[in-house]
Amino acid sequence: MLTIDTATTSVNTLQDYLHDAIAPRPIGLVSTINKEGHVNLSPFSYFNLFSINPPICIFSPTRKIPDNTTKHTLENIKEVGECVINVVTYNMVEQISKASYSYPKNVNEFTESGLTPVPSELVRPPRVLESPIQFECTLQQIIELGTDAGAGNLVIVHIRKIHIKESALDSSGKIDPTQLDLIARLGGDWYTRVTPKSLFSLKRG
Ligand SMILES: Cc1cc2nc3c(=O)[nH]c(=O)nc-3n(C[C@H](O)[C@H](O)[C@H](O)COP(=O)(O)O)c2cc1C
Repeated sequence: MLTIDTATTSVNTLQDYLHDAIAPRPIGLVSTINKEGHVNLSPFSYFNLFSINPPICIFSPTRKIPDNTTKHTLENIKEVGECVINVVTYNMVEQISKASYSYPKNVNEFTESGLTPVPSELVRPPRVLESPIQFECTLQQIIELGTDAGAGNLVIVHIRKIHIKESALDSSGKIDPTQLDLIARLGGDWYTRVTPKSLFSLKRG
């Protein structure tokens, strides 16, 4: 068995093992805005649901490994305190990949990726039209996990509104996992796709 001591392993190697091992990870496509009104759109797979009451999600923009700078998403949400988290489907994969490139500050990744902004109801950052489920969120707290390259920043957000396309719903009004076509992230360049063939159900006893 290979045993890795995290304290003596390089950040790049650690990242590879952790991304491969802790997978698949859901992807939140996060839209933010700064106080001058410049919009940003970036995908995050350090992302999940952590509470229902209150409804809380957390995502983590890390400090960049090459140069230890922080991500625009983090700077924007510190300034404005709002975001929209959009779920990601298979037909959006090329666009979210483009949205993840390193652009100079104030470049709008909606324009770069070809995704379509639609106004939110409660918060200033726009929603992503192509995403079947969009969460309008307000910032609750940011927890910095370190100051070295690779350190995460837990962005804890309160979900205020949820928008769900009719096409994602079954006849009883519930979200239908066989229709959503969600994707998730693994290590390296790998993604996975939730198809009817990859799904199974298990009744709880
Ligand atoms: C599918 C996918 C998931 C990603 N997940 C994360 C993540 O969880 N945390 C992170 O810091 N960067 C993540 N990245 C890289 C960021 O998306 C990229 O650095 C980002 O677009 C930074 O943009 P910003 O500086 O405009 O906020 C991910 C990239 C992709 C393609």
